[in-house]
Amino acid sequence: MSKKELDWGNLGFAYHVTDKRYVANYKDGKWDEGALTADPMITMSEDAGVLQYSQSVFEGLKAYTTADGHVVTFRPDLNAARMYDSAMYLEMPPFPQDRFIDAVVETVRANLDWVPPYGSGATLYIRPYMFGISPVIGVKPADEYMFRIFCTPVGPYFKGGAKPISVRISDYDRAAPRGTGHIKAGLNYAMSLHAIVDAHNHGFAENIYLDPATRTKIEETGGANILFVDHDGNLVVPKSASILPSITRRSLVDVARTYLGLKVEEREVTLKEVKEGAFIECGLCGTAAVISPVGKIDDHGEVIAFPSGMEEMGPVLKKLYETLTGIQMGRIEAPKGWIQVIA
Ligand code: PLP
Ligand code: COI
Repeated sequence: MSKKELDWGNLGFAYHVTDKRYVANYKDGKWDEGALTADPMITMSEDAGVLQYSQSVFEGLKAYTTADGHVVTFRPDLNAARMYDSAMYLEMPPFPQDRFIDAVVETVRANLDWVPPYGSGATLYIRPYMFGISPVIGVKPADEYMFRIFCTPVGPYFKGGAKPISVRISDYDRAAPRGTGHIKAGLNYAMSLHAIVDAHNHGFAENIYLDPATRTKIEETGGANILFVDHDGNLVVPKSASILPSITRRSLVDVARTYLGLKVEEREVTLKEVKEGAFIECGLCGTAAVISPVGKIDDHGEVIAFPSGMEEMGPVLKKLYETLTGIQMGRIEAPKGWIQVIA
């Protein structure tokens, strides 16, 4: 076997069928031992819980080729823990966290030819997910579940890579105050599809969702948390119980404090202060987004343009980006426990 011949530098964020995927089944009250399979297809009942009542949760993490030629992944223990929380919230039997990490490693090892080379700008996106597969007709949890992991080589999530994007304030809400915004459930993304298609049709790359209760505070976008930099060069990240606890954001907060010596504020951020010019840089962060700079936010025709502009990432976010990706790709020493070596 040898590296696949893909145009690594020009990959979009798209699905490629790779060689192997991991599958485990939950039946009669327990998970089976799980195995890799070459078959990317799934057969299930027409009445499967996932098809009727959207009982599904997922995760996203990446594998990287490091400068010295290893293949590693980044903080898979946090994805395992978040998927555990997501499953509990949707009344699904959680997949054991140690087995989650082993299964990620096994799946990537079985697809090493698909891991993009160092310096190509691409990475291997890993998608663990689980769903109710047994028939359900009254509204209740399924009795049987499938847990799977596939991986696919990807390029930047937003077209243009590190070029700043324009985003808009959404008229729709993403997550109710006591709803499912803090877990990674497929249903949170289903409800964002109309809003994202409409945003794209109007020339925006993403939607910023406000807190549904008051519509005065910044929450997050459909697929990423939000970062701001204030006039003193401090990192400011919106805090809310209904946003996804992004592993990238939590890592960046640590990196900002311990590697870059920045002050970090995790607090409520109002749309009003954003409009009043409290921030000089803005970006989206996540596994897929990494750090994607935001040049402009449009609130129904009122444009908030960040001083960092539409040409490049501002200097503070750039330093954060370089430090985080340096850690992920082995150029900068990682905090203990952040890097899991796969090969
Ligand atoms: N917020 C949402 C809604 C997301 O879908 C994601 C992607 O996983 C994130 C934030 C970023 O989370 P993470 O950094 O753990 O990938
Ligand atoms: C991720 O960053 O892993 C996400 O899940 C965001 C999006 C692709 C759904």
